Amino acid sequence: MASALALFFIFNLASFHALPDVVLEDGYTVSTVIDGHKLRMNPHSVLHRSGSSDLVVLDSANNTFYTVSFPASQESVVKRLSGDGRPGYLDGKLSSARFNSPRSFAIDLKGNVYVADIKNKRTIRKISDSGVTTIAGGYSEKAGHVDGPAQNASFSDDFEISFIPELCALLISDHGNQLVRHISLKAEDCARGSNAAMGAVSTWLLGLGLSCLLGLIVGIAVRPYIIPSTGRLQAPPFQRDMETSPNSSGETSTDTLLRHQKRSC
Ligand SMILES: *[C@@H]1O[C@H](CO)[C@@H](O)[C@H](O)[C@H]1NC(C)=O
Ligand SMILES: *[C@@H]1O[C@H](CO)[C@@H](O)[C@H](O)[C@H]1NC(C)=O
Repeated sequence: MASALALFFIFNLASFHALPDVVLEDGYTVSTVIDGHKLRMNPHSVLHRSGSSDLVVLDSANNTFYTVSFPASQESVVKRLSGDGRPGYLDGKLSSARFNSPRSFAIDLKGNVYVADIKNKRTIRKISDSGVTTIAGGYSEKAGHVDGPAQNASFSDDFEISFIPELCALLISDHGNQLVRHISLKAEDCARGSNAAMGAVSTWLLGLGLSCLLGLIVGIAVRPYIIPSTGRLQAPPFQRDMETSPNSSGETSTDTLLRHQKRSC
């Protein structure tokens, strides 16, 4: 009996060491980036806004969405995106629109915000630059799981939304109905890079273009000094550059360089 007990303990001890319940992984750091006390808001949830350096912060208790410039600091610019603070159901202008303690939202690649506004007739609302609209559930009077044209669709009293860029769609985890629902978005709202992102991409392309151009110019400028060594002093560099049959004459190292440069552009 005693040996059985001892075995039991040894076995348990061994299995405890072999299969720990908690695995502590090092290498992560926590820091505070937005202090609601200082910024006078109560962050319920936060997402990065595509196409900008802003975060969108939902203050559910105050029925308001804010944008906070990021990286956030004491000097962060906090702007009210939409919601006038009071609970209500009002579409239209960003500044006067009203929400009713929404708990979940998603952001598409253009920066539009989609709000699961459950207390407002279980609707899904859209905050765009031009204002606030209701995109789903507008006609629904009661909870349900009706699919079809979005204004006539219905949802349960408990759902959350997320945006899936690869699908260009919202997925709705409709807890109350035990369903995942799907709403396709407009293609223009899934085009990567509007606003700031577009700026970054075009700057990058401009940089690439400039470096290509610089490479070509350097190639052209350097060539005449190398060409004489091959006894082809007379060849005007520009004209030669236009030649379509580069193999017809002796190739210098800059020819190769130039070709590489052109190919990589
Ligand atoms: C948000 O609501 C709290 C009370 O819930 C209030 O004290 C605070 O002033 C509100 N903030 C803003 C910016 O409206
Ligand atoms: C949606 O609901 C509205 C209002 O009840 C109705 O007029 C309209 O015909 C419905 N549309 C569809 C496609 O069911």
